[in-house]
Amino acid sequence: MREQGQSMLNGSGVHRPSWEKIWLPKVLAKNTIGIFLLILLCIGAFFSTRVLDSSVISLSINSLKKSTFSAITSHNQPGNKQVEIPLNCSLGDATLTCPANYYPSRYSARNPDPPSAATQPTCPDYFRWIHEDLSPWKETGITEAMVNMANRTANFRLVILNGTAFVETYEKAFQTRDTFTLWGILQLLRRYPGQVPDLDLMFDCVDWPVINKDSHSGPNATAPPPLFRYCANDTTLDIVFPDWSFWGWPEINIKPWEALSKDLKEGNERSRWVDREPYAYWKGNPQVAEKRMDLLKCNVSDQQDWNARIYAQDWGREQQQGYKKSDLASQCIHRYKIYIEGSAWSVSEKYILACDSVTLLVTPKYYDFFTRGLTPLQHYWPIREDNKCRAIKHAVDWGNSKIEKAQAIGKAASNFVQDELKMDFVYDYMFHLLREYAKLLKYKPSVPPKAIELCSESMACPAQGQEKKFMMDSTVRGPSSETPCGMPPPYDPATLHSIIDRKRNSIKQVETWERHYWDQRNL
Ligand SMILES: *[C@@H]1O[C@H](CO)[C@@H](O)[C@H](O)[C@H]1NC(C)=O
Ligand SMILES: *[C@@H]1O[C@H](CO)[C@@H](O)[C@H](O)[C@H]1NC(C)=O
Ligand SMILES: *[C@@H]1O[C@H](CO)[C@@H](O)[C@H](O)[C@H]1NC(C)=O
Ligand SMILES: *[C@@H]1O[C@H](CO)[C@@H](O)[C@H](O)[C@H]1NC(C)=O
Ligand SMILES: *[C@@H]1O[C@H](CO)[C@@H](O)[C@H](O)[C@H]1NC(C)=O
Ligand SMILES: *[C@@H]1O[C@H](CO)[C@@H](O)[C@H](O)[C@H]1NC(C)=O
Repeated sequence: MREQGQSMLNGSGVHRPSWEKIWLPKVLAKNTIGIFLLILLCIGAFFSTRVLDSSVISLSINSLKKSTFSAITSHNQPGNKQVEIPLNCSLGDATLTCPANYYPSRYSARNPDPPSAATQPTCPDYFRWIHEDLSPWKETGITEAMVNMANRTANFRLVILNGTAFVETYEKAFQTRDTFTLWGILQLLRRYPGQVPDLDLMFDCVDWPVINKDSHSGPNATAPPPLFRYCANDTTLDIVFPDWSFWGWPEINIKPWEALSKDLKEGNERSRWVDREPYAYWKGNPQVAEKRMDLLKCNVSDQQDWNARIYAQDWGREQQQGYKKSDLASQCIHRYKIYIEGSAWSVSEKYILACDSVTLLVTPKYYDFFTRGLTPLQHYWPIREDNKCRAIKHAVDWGNSKIEKAQAIGKAASNFVQDELKMDFVYDYMFHLLREYAKLLKYKPSVPPKAIELCSESMACPAQGQEKKFMMDSTVRGPSSETPCGMPPPYDPATLHSIIDRKRNSIKQVETWERHYWDQRNL
């Protein structure tokens, strides 16, 4: 199916989800979601726990004066009251337009002190990759012509001016990917009003990265068109941005990450690692990638037991049953969980890492915004792509004989996901990425003629059903009383190399252990 993705790319020169008309479950299959189907059934008894504590006060909008607002955003003082500004859906027929002078962004001071690592707690290390992702434009800056060129595959163009978002849609994305991506950006504007700089960017919601590194290197190369998307790989220059699922995925009932990550945490507390099934579990749609089909061969049978328990996802049935088949506690009941990419990166990775189980990570080809912060043997156990069954068998035997070490890997991963990938940091990542990106712009962005103004009201008020619910649940309630985390500096080349080397060496180490393991068994 990767091949199919490529031929879509090469064939027409345009990379579009032509799969929209395909029967839904099949489409989902192409879409890399398989594995976590189980996880998504968050029948979870928990209602989204609000970020706000008892000091939250609700101000009527009219009383929110500029001075109040400045006081809120300027400093993190303990005991600072957090201001709530509810969505105003009472505009009647005007719900498709944005209320004027409603949210403080409209009249806030532009771009106050940039948060720096010197004055703020530093952001997680994976933020440092922002510098790497933007490095192709470090010398040249970004011109309007470069941005225009990225329109070739973009689903939409986003312009932010004075804290207001304007969007020109080129092509509706698959399902609600674009909707929830834009929703997330609007929430960022609510969270840090007046601090997101003016900018102009192109966003592509399709799985596969398209900006080829090779076409933009060498002496006469032109600077690449800057294009935002959810993942990239070592041969592309697409700029990675958090995917829509952090705000919810209504089509398959995945609730916003804020609530879902809490559910998963609670679920872990109900099932101790040592009491879990001592096998490696995977459930997903194998049809989307050859390597997944290959994984099926590792399933337990009468003849063999590679310590793997593999299940194919039946999307049709799950859908019919309203995704109500399993409850949260039953989603993390194995000591080991396998992560394997589908057609590109998969949003399931965070749900698998969150389980307290040891993630057996089949060597990925793609990265998203946070996965470069993961370290083999610390956060996961690397599984080579060839000879997967032998690698899985060895990994599980290793863990079952070194219970404490195995548990530590599982715990490190769920801690990473709960601490470094909490929504606060997802917003801060977006904030810093957009801010660094905006610094590179060599022109003053303006509203494209066909763009429309977008605000939380114009999206959420007319929305229906699950979509509306997820928007309401993931609404940022008001300006953050805290400033964003401090942006760490770029890696110096030596450090970057040593990180990459260390990763490679741990993977080699595991391969060596595995070889010894099989040599001994074959004696
Ligand atoms: C919502 O907006 C309308 C129209 O601007 C205004 O009359 C109303 O008071 C607002 N509602 C709230 C809760 O602020
Ligand atoms: C993309 O940009 C080119 C060059 O600026 C322009 O001719 C074309 O109309 C644009 N396409 C879309 C879909 O905006
Ligand atoms: C943004 O603010 C500037 C300065 O206050 C103003 O001139 C400009 O018209 C505003 N642009 C938009 C789109 O609101
Ligand atoms: C990166 O992704 C593109 C698009 O899917 C693909 O054509 C290319 O082969 C990938 N590169 C690597 C190193 O996997
Ligand atoms: C780069 O451009 C120069 C001058 O036009 C030309 O002589 C040279 O062959 C080009 N190099 C490559 C790699 O295309
Ligand atoms: C893997 O084996 C289990 C146990 O025999 C079985 O229930 C399951 O359906 C198998 N999975 C696949 C994908 O065949």
